[in-house]
Amino acid sequence: MSYTLTTPLYYVNDRAHLGSAYTTLACDAVARYRRLIGESVRFITGCDEHGQKIQRTAEAAGVTPQAHCDAVSEGYRQLWARWQITNDRFIRTTDPRHRSIVEQFFARVEAQGDVVEGRQQGWYCVACEEFKDDPADAEAPSCSVHQKPLEWRDECNLFFRLSRYQGEIEALIRRPGFITPASRRREVENFVAQGLRDFSISRVELPWGIPVPGHDGHTFYVWFDALLGYLTALLEADDPADLNLVTQRGWPAQLHVIGKDILRFHAVYWPAMLLSAGLPLPDKVFGHGFLTREGQKMGKSLGNVLDPEMLLERCGSDAVRWYLLRDIPFGDDGDFQQQRFLDLVNNDLANTIGNLLNRTSSMARRWFEGGVPPAGGAVEPTHPLALIAAACRDRYRPAMEQLDFRTAAEATLELAIAANGYLNEQAPWSRMKQDGNREQVAADLYAVLEATRWVALLLAPIVPDLSGRMLVQLAQDPSWPWWDALVWGRLEPESPLPEPSPVMARLELEEPL
Ligand code: MSP
Repeated sequence: MSYTLTTPLYYVNDRAHLGSAYTTLACDAVARYRRLIGESVRFITGCDEHGQKIQRTAEAAGVTPQAHCDAVSEGYRQLWARWQITNDRFIRTTDPRHRSIVEQFFARVEAQGDVVEGRQQGWYCVACEEFKDDPADAEAPSCSVHQKPLEWRDECNLFFRLSRYQGEIEALIRRPGFITPASRRREVENFVAQGLRDFSISRVELPWGIPVPGHDGHTFYVWFDALLGYLTALLEADDPADLNLVTQRGWPAQLHVIGKDILRFHAVYWPAMLLSAGLPLPDKVFGHGFLTREGQKMGKSLGNVLDPEMLLERCGSDAVRWYLLRDIPFGDDGDFQQQRFLDLVNNDLANTIGNLLNRTSSMARRWFEGGVPPAGGAVEPTHPLALIAAACRDRYRPAMEQLDFRTAAEATLELAIAANGYLNEQAPWSRMKQDGNREQVAADLYAVLEATRWVALLLAPIVPDLSGRMLVQLAQDPSWPWWDALVWGRLEPESPLPEPSPVMARLELEEPL
């Protein structure tokens, strides 16, 4: 099966912040999971490089927009590489092939009679690159997302006839699972119920954009161009820029993951554009919540922005991935709290999971010739830990399918907690002191090691580095099909184990983040 998923294409007005890292890490977990269950994945990310916001940023920095975009998008590319993001594509909307895809798409839409001239009047937020419907304060209107003054615009533009698609969009957003979580759907339903209005897709006097063929002086509105980046991204390296190819290259996407602020573009404008161009619609749009920090919005002016580069350097990828995906229900807003971050990483990863592996493999090696003990009856699927492992796996899978990373992480942790509990109850360190218990101790240690192997496997999409280190400590062959490996008793009895070394150090911060 083929699975195409996307992050938003990030604006290059500034470097990546924790918000962009959050979406990208979540998508990376999905992409890894999908590959592990055997699907052929196309994981797309990239940068959105046109529009007024970028043009102004470049002007303020005294560089050409292209030079500015080259520098910032390279920063994104490198950042994702350092985070070991497994994206298959990195699309930049200044890619020459993209221009051609936009032109072909526009030609289809125009041929449908969906492009009309009109006059656009209204309040515009350059940071959102969006017209705002009804500013709360008519005297000094400002953007509720960016707290920046809105700008009055009055210009003649080309419009896309969104109003024509009212019925189809209504039916689409009612389709179960198209907009998730369901709470976000209501927002979109209310918007659509007010009646869809045509929206402008071109700008005049904005040189930093793709020129609209046949309409001198117009460039495409940045959102019209950016959404099409999802299509261009699917072209293979040596493909020509041919829009007809995209359906053979993985379109439609199974999943767009975005923040809640850009849901309307993805759940309303984008499907209508695709309908107009005769292209199939994506299966699912997941709108996640916003991250705050210690209860406050993160912002440059507040000086409390968490820089993903710094976080990676000081805390490591496992800690941040675990915290963001395990603690915040994906879909809800979440708050980054330093103390909670440290507590969860140290309790879950270092104490519960790391120690479980370390102490069990140390005992096994010490008493059973440097390797996995003979299993005895512990290979039976009716072993108490086998039953718990199976129950955790059965909760994990549907959770991952629904992007409920929290439940998946909790199921994994529950198995580690159960294995620790079992070890404490059986107390092999006491049993070993009495004669005649060797077989029982062997079986108990086998069962706990086997449960730990499952924990390592289940962690793979969420904290891939830690998972890899654990599997090395358990002498596991990483080329095994993952889901098949989640069968009780696959750990080979009496196979050698490497010298134990801690897989997860405790996270201590000398200075606050
Ligand atoms: N360029 C558009 C997307 C075009 S997609 C064809 C854009 N870019 S963005 O860089 O401004 O935003 C990217 C994503 O970051 C959005 O999904 C947005 O919701 C998300 N976030 C921005 N701030 C955020 C937080 N504080 N927390 C979580 N996500 C946040 O929009």
